[in-house]
Amino acid sequence: MKKLKIFFTAAELTPLAKAGGLGDVAGSLPKAMYKLGHKFSFFLPFHEQIDKKQLKNFKHVKNISVLFNGKNEKAEVYRCDFPNTNQPLYLFKSNKYISRGGIYDNNKIQNPFTGKQAAQQDGIPIKYFFFSKCVRKFVEEENLEFDVYHYNDWHTVPVMLHFINDSEKPQHKNLLTIHNLGARGSVPAKLYSLLGLPKKYTGPLEKKSRIITLKLGIKFADLINTVSPTYAKEILTPEYGAGLQSDLKKRKKDLYGIINGLDLDLFNPQKDQYLKYNFNLKTISKKKKDKAFLQKKSGLKVSEDIPVFGLVTRLARQKGIDLILAVLDDLAKLDAQYIFTGTGIPPYENGFKKAMKKYPDKFYFLNDFDIPFGQWIYGGADVFFMPSNFEPCGLGQMIAMEYGTIPVVRATGGLADTVKEGQTGFTFKDKDPEQFLRATKRAVKAYQDQTKWMRLMENGMTADHSWTNSAREYQKLYYKLEKL
Ligand code: GLC
Repeated sequence: MKKLKIFFTAAELTPLAKAGGLGDVAGSLPKAMYKLGHKFSFFLPFHEQIDKKQLKNFKHVKNISVLFNGKNEKAEVYRCDFPNTNQPLYLFKSNKYISRGGIYDNNKIQNPFTGKQAAQQDGIPIKYFFFSKCVRKFVEEENLEFDVYHYNDWHTVPVMLHFINDSEKPQHKNLLTIHNLGARGSVPAKLYSLLGLPKKYTGPLEKKSRIITLKLGIKFADLINTVSPTYAKEILTPEYGAGLQSDLKKRKKDLYGIINGLDLDLFNPQKDQYLKYNFNLKTISKKKKDKAFLQKKSGLKVSEDIPVFGLVTRLARQKGIDLILAVLDDLAKLDAQYIFTGTGIPPYENGFKKAMKKYPDKFYFLNDFDIPFGQWIYGGADVFFMPSNFEPCGLGQMIAMEYGTIPVVRATGGLADTVKEGQTGFTFKDKDPEQFLRATKRAVKAYQDQTKWMRLMENGMTADHSWTNSAREYQKLYYKLEKL
């Protein structure tokens, strides 16, 4: 089979710039393709939070200049090794338009029309529009060519639009991966002029006040995939399609679902740098020490017999936090402890804070984005909550299973594809607090039978959550693209 040259771009990249699961996938899928013998280049905005000390073989490549709102604007291009490979990671820096503020927060970007700080809603599109121009210009100037082009989520769709418009170049073969339809890139139409693209791209949409960038991606990508087979079907329905279901239906024959893998160098209880006691299936009894450590850290009673339920998540609507909040008093009646961590919207944060106050010997909530504490939960808890409203893939449930922590999940998207009731976890179907509570009670009951519990742990820990199979699935799509 031909070894491919892959163009890869995403807004995030773990460990350099992570906001969520997209970063983890962007950090591990290219590496998995490299292991299969392919070459790649990765294109990333030089976000403010990127720590130069972490960049290997870091060097300035060149300065480029792009036309942005009719003016020549400069950007610096840097290169370093993509983490754990010798493949190039290109970083695009501009203090005006890219490299200030967070990955997805926008309060320091300049508005090219006014020269002033951009309004909240405009900053992000300006950032990724400018990035798209820089990438296109750089690839052109350096004469870089690739067999396939892989885009992730709406932020990188403008890069694709530039390339397919570039008739001087050989045809570009595009794969668009949708990690989350919750973010569609709805942008005020007036900003689209910054891209300088012909009307054939945005023309039909321009009567509206906003343009949905992902809609354009869905229309113009050669192939599309989402991050689990179930989510690939769900998004064709109004309930999950975020208003794009009919656009997606038109592309049904080009739409695939590929479950994400985990980077098992990072998420591995045997190697995890944060766990106090590393373990594997053979030394599973050490997990009890991690549990005791976690209980102690959380100020809860240290006891082997009480099952500990963990939650590590962004506290966002997607994650089904309402279901947990609806049954807090019932949860408190069970012989169980609850250790949660995460940050997000105030009603959820406050709900958990209240629970901790009301039931101090049952609930502990660390209201922070604290990576070590999150890993202590994966390592030390017995059960892992993931009652998501929707979940394109979900990595938490797979990490939990790798660590012998049994997931309780709503059977949607990737959760439905990776967790099986009574075999690797506990599942429920509807967004119904009662169903969630019943699944939780099944977990409490199962925990009392340690032989049965051991079997659940073993099933999860021996299941394959690596990239091996999924990378092959992506490879198939790449070859399919090549033949188009
Ligand atoms: C998004 C989705 C999540 C998925 C991740 C990586 O964060 O919400 O379900 O696992 O992307 O694809």
